[in-house]
Amino acid sequence: MRICLIGFGAVGQGVVKIISLKKKHVKNKFNIELKVVGVSDSSGSAINQEGLDEELLLDIKSKTNKIYNYPKYGDNSLQGIELLDNVDYDCLVEATPTNISTGEPAKSLTLKAFNDKKDVVTSNKGHLALFFNEMISKAKENNVEFKFEASVGGAMPIINFSKKTLPSSEIESIIGILNGTTNFILSRMTSEGSSYKDTLEESKVLGIAETDPSQDVEGIDAACKTVILANSVLGIDCVYDDIEIEGITNITSQAIELAKKEGYFIKLIAEISKDKLKVAPRLVKKNSPYAIEGTLNMATLKTDLAGDVTVVGKGAGSIETASAILTDIINIKKTIRE
Ligand SMILES: NC(=O)c1ccc[n+]([C@@H]2O[C@H](COP(=O)([O-])OP(=O)(O)OC[C@H]3O[C@@H](n4cnc5c(N)ncnc54)[C@H](OP(=O)(O)O)[C@@H]3O)[C@@H](O)[C@H]2O)c1
Repeated sequence: MRICLIGFGAVGQGVVKIISLKKKHVKNKFNIELKVVGVSDSSGSAINQEGLDEELLLDIKSKTNKIYNYPKYGDNSLQGIELLDNVDYDCLVEATPTNISTGEPAKSLTLKAFNDKKDVVTSNKGHLALFFNEMISKAKENNVEFKFEASVGGAMPIINFSKKTLPSSEIESIIGILNGTTNFILSRMTSEGSSYKDTLEESKVLGIAETDPSQDVEGIDAACKTVILANSVLGIDCVYDDIEIEGITNITSQAIELAKKEGYFIKLIAEISKDKLKVAPRLVKKNSPYAIEGTLNMATLKTDLAGDVTVVGKGAGSIETASAILTDIINIKKTIRE
């Protein structure tokens, strides 16, 4: 399986790290030979049809921050989409930043790969939240696979889980916590009695919140995931603008304290059903599955036959997210292409 990786930040580097760690295991267990033949960041590329050395890729990126410094095979004239015409590959792994205004560069990269009859695995949410149906139809038109487990909940299995493990049941709704940063902030405000502003600053220092945390705290990130789950699991045709969104920026420590006294926590909850597509702070009971702490994600799937099924997992992190990408790659090769 020849992999072309575009986006070499936290997730992209995680993918290369776990390919290095797991390629023998993947070969022995699934008879799949993983080879990274092209990598691009925002400044250039590295290409070798024989396979790039994973450790060297990581070393060059960490020391110089520019992948085109890769000895002999680096190229600063080829970036992003141009790489796709200059490398023979089987699967594009797309891990560029989420862009909720245009979905780019993920949208163009993905459509180009589809057009060239290549499979695509992504952790990106922007193009899916804005153009879900278009992306899926183009993949079908070109008879290629498009997988995006990592885009919702990082390592928390939910999309493949719903499709492969629960096919006998109809999934009526999903209610969950789909953003780890806000869950961390609300958990700390609850345990420490601290204000929203102070807790947000603490989260930035700990590296949990980004310098610009607006996508998380305003509910945008959770809303993107809501669109992806609504379309892919519940078959609801919707886009980002259909989601009712309220973030956590107005939650006060007093409101949290009051809720706590009555046996409740305040959580940023995504509700996904035919009647409701909403992300907003909600009261949840202290001993319910929604009372998870820290950066964890969770989701309860309400089914007609199996009752409520709850999944919990790490919603972010380089290796955790990369693990979902590698699962998608293995599934494409193992269950579809063979
Ligand atoms: N981090 C997580 O835990 C996590 C979890 C789930 C999903 N995701 C999603 O996964 C994606 C990647 O996240 P991340 O945390 O790895 O982001 P990141 O650390 O910001 O890395 C983004 C990478 O994309 C590269 N890039 C930007 N524009 C590009 C372009 N036009 N062509 C080629 N490369 C380009 C950047 O290049 P430079 O290195 O040169 O800046 C960087 O290597 C995002 O869509 C994010 O929402 C992340």
